[in-house]
Amino acid sequence: MSQSQKPAAHDASRRRFLKSSLQTTGAAALGLSTNVHGYTAKEVQDFYVDGEMQRNVSKWELDTPALCVDLDVLDTNIDTMQSTTSRNGIASRPHAKTHKCPVIAQRQLDTGSVGICTAKVGEAEVMFDHGIDQILMTTTNVTPTKIKRAMELSRANPQFIQATDSMTNARLLSDAAQSYGITADVVVDVDPGGHRTGITPGEPALGLAQLIDSLPGLNLRGLLCYDGGSQHVQGFTARRDQTLGRLEAATATYDLFQSSGLSTEIFSGGGTGTYNIDHNTRGLTDVQVGSYVFMDAQYIDIGGETDDEVYSDFGPSLTILTTVLNDQYEGRCTTDAGAKACTINRPWPRVKGEHGMSYTSGSDEFGSLRYEADASRTYRVGEKLELIVSHCDPVVNLYNHMYAIRGETVEAVWPIAARGMST
Ligand SMILES: Cc1ncc(COP(=O)(O)O)c(C=O)c1O
Repeated sequence: MSQSQKPAAHDASRRRFLKSSLQTTGAAALGLSTNVHGYTAKEVQDFYVDGEMQRNVSKWELDTPALCVDLDVLDTNIDTMQSTTSRNGIASRPHAKTHKCPVIAQRQLDTGSVGICTAKVGEAEVMFDHGIDQILMTTTNVTPTKIKRAMELSRANPQFIQATDSMTNARLLSDAAQSYGITADVVVDVDPGGHRTGITPGEPALGLAQLIDSLPGLNLRGLLCYDGGSQHVQGFTARRDQTLGRLEAATATYDLFQSSGLSTEIFSGGGTGTYNIDHNTRGLTDVQVGSYVFMDAQYIDIGGETDDEVYSDFGPSLTILTTVLNDQYEGRCTTDAGAKACTINRPWPRVKGEHGMSYTSGSDEFGSLRYEADASRTYRVGEKLELIVSHCDPVVNLYNHMYAIRGETVEAVWPIAARGMST
């Protein structure tokens, strides 16, 4: 076995996880081949009329590459998030940058989320166009173009809230709001220490909040502090210690806001990696969780509270269905899902429900599947397999639709309406 074929150090635990909890689809794929009726993406979309499939379509009949979401796993993930955050006395405000899909945003709101977040004003516009109004944009709008769009959105949707992280920006937002005849809602973005965005906690953040409070065009709603650098820290204890340590300065800022009589109605933070930790931060109202709906290989590897090696609080609901194009060569096959279907994020995608094989999507159009000595199976040309995605957000952004699957049946075709809305 060559070096590149050797199993990675964590493969044993990964295999255990895939075997035990990632279910059974590999077996279902066995025996399915080119004699299955296939439908084009257009045909399947046409079958979906007024929210119902007019024909019974199996996921194995989808043309590939296809992005699929397992509805039972998705709903369980949403329920787990809701029940955990409620038990911990906080709310969820899911980040729609992950799914970019208004149907999923609505599902999250219907099950108790207090609102959704967006990273881009374009995502916020799309969500609002689809009837969603409780939107917190977690990025600061700095250019005249973006500020104009944000104010137009604020005027149309008074529930739109945007982040700001400097006095210059707050003054620009206030002037723009006044020119639109509105008062725009804002939160102060506080830096957890990574220096990616946000203002320094403590006095600088307090000064900004006081300025906002005095500006005629703005309405202060509170603060946010997203500690992205802690979300993927390996091991629950290390993750907890790091994030709670890094959020201390934000809590001190929250205290300053409170003692100065400023609004702390919102103190938003956290993500999928710390959703069951952040409530220990005094004053925190909600977690801006994104990836939990879908999960991905990057998150599976960080370990959870009950399992050091595998983060199994949420199941991988999002998969890429791909077809084998070539099986002629020993120890491998080639599929139709390469970088344009999977991205080149690491770790590489994983074959769902199987073990003893590794997948790479480094080539633009082709995926390479290599078998190890203990591979659970091999594939023939025309057969399909499912991949657990490497990193959910950028993968979703590659597709116009996702197929919502119940069991093995396509139940809905959901437009990824904010796909590509990166401005
Ligand atoms: C500001 C902000 N909030 C929340 C999230 C959601 O994080 P996760 O997908 O880890 O839950 C992100 C992700 O990058 C983010 O940038």
